Amino acid sequence: MFAVFAEHVDEHDPLSGLRVGARPTPETPLGWTRVRVEAASLNHHDIWSLRGAGLPPDRLPMILGCDAAGYDEDGEPVVVHAVIADPDTVGDETFDPNRTLLSEFHHGTFAEEVVVPRRNVLRRPPSLSATDAACLPTSWLTAYRMLFTRSHLRAGDTVLVQGAGGGVATALTALARAGGFRVWVTSRNEQRGQRALELGAHEVFESGARLPRRVDAVMDTVGKATWSHSVRSLRPGGTLVTTGVTSGDDLSNAELTRIFFLQLSVVGSTMGTRAELRALIDLLDVTGVRPVIDSILPMTAAPTGFRRMVDGQVFGKIVFTL
Ligand SMILES: NC(=O)c1ccc[n+]([C@@H]2O[C@H](COP(=O)([O-])OP(=O)(O)OC[C@H]3O[C@@H](n4cnc5c(N)ncnc54)[C@H](OP(=O)(O)O)[C@@H]3O)[C@@H](O)[C@H]2O)c1
Repeated sequence: MFAVFAEHVDEHDPLSGLRVGARPTPETPLGWTRVRVEAASLNHHDIWSLRGAGLPPDRLPMILGCDAAGYDEDGEPVVVHAVIADPDTVGDETFDPNRTLLSEFHHGTFAEEVVVPRRNVLRRPPSLSATDAACLPTSWLTAYRMLFTRSHLRAGDTVLVQGAGGGVATALTALARAGGFRVWVTSRNEQRGQRALELGAHEVFESGARLPRRVDAVMDTVGKATWSHSVRSLRPGGTLVTTGVTSGDDLSNAELTRIFFLQLSVVGSTMGTRAELRALIDLLDVTGVRPVIDSILPMTAAPTGFRRMVDGQVFGKIVFTL
């Protein structure tokens, strides 16, 4: 079948191992099922995979992609939940220490078909297009859990989103606005900041700028480049939710003194549960909020989308269609 896959990994030149071509269709183990992929979206995770993070050479070649919308074996429209947990896990599957994401251990969604555990397939309502639904399982689900499960924010609180244009950042901005929060966003780029305002941010600031007042919570996917600013932007008792380190994780100053003195909470967050993905789908169905799509490309042109993400030009999600 047609697929987009990592043939080799290279920490410094991630796109050198990216291939578009034919791969064998994966076997379907007992309790698993096939989904015919209609649309799949690109995540920074796919770039990390090509750099070798979470993808050792003995698992190559590996079909990339975490997110997909398509049709199940009965021809019903579905969305795929990308977290593959132990089937015996009870409760929150993101706490399963052995969980993996599609494309880490099992082949991913950038292909004509993806094989997943039956429980990872959720019905897609008619109101959600395949391209919109394909944006949800990683970026949007991560943003949903950061805001509504891990931050302890309440409607009316002020939240700062670090970075404007990313898949997670645009989801945070749109969902925070829908959730009734005051939304402040930082960006390195004036144009992307302007687009965050159009998306629902109340105010936009240059990356690292001093804010008019401190906020109740900060959502940080950037890591090293924004960490100090995130900590310094919080009110006493505020919460920093961290979920990514796009700019690196080797902090020169972890701001420990400020964290204990102001009694701040630093909370990690990763992906989300099936129940949270269901709730996110329902939220979109009810509110009419939809993912911001940077570009839609045929999957055969996937390398163009990967290049755009590596170059940091993206505003929203890049979606591949079949
Ligand atoms: N833990 C999890 O479960 C999970 C899930 C999803 C994503 N993530 C991680 O979250 C990160 C973002 O993912 P994504 O898919 O949204 O990636 P993306 O679409 O490539 O977005 C990158 C974002 O980072 C910002 N940024 C990058 N470098 C920056 C810098 N030096 N200073 C300030 N801002 C910077 C950009 O802001 P501008 O628009 O201002 O340029 C943009 O918002 C990745 O590291 C990813 O691995 C983790």
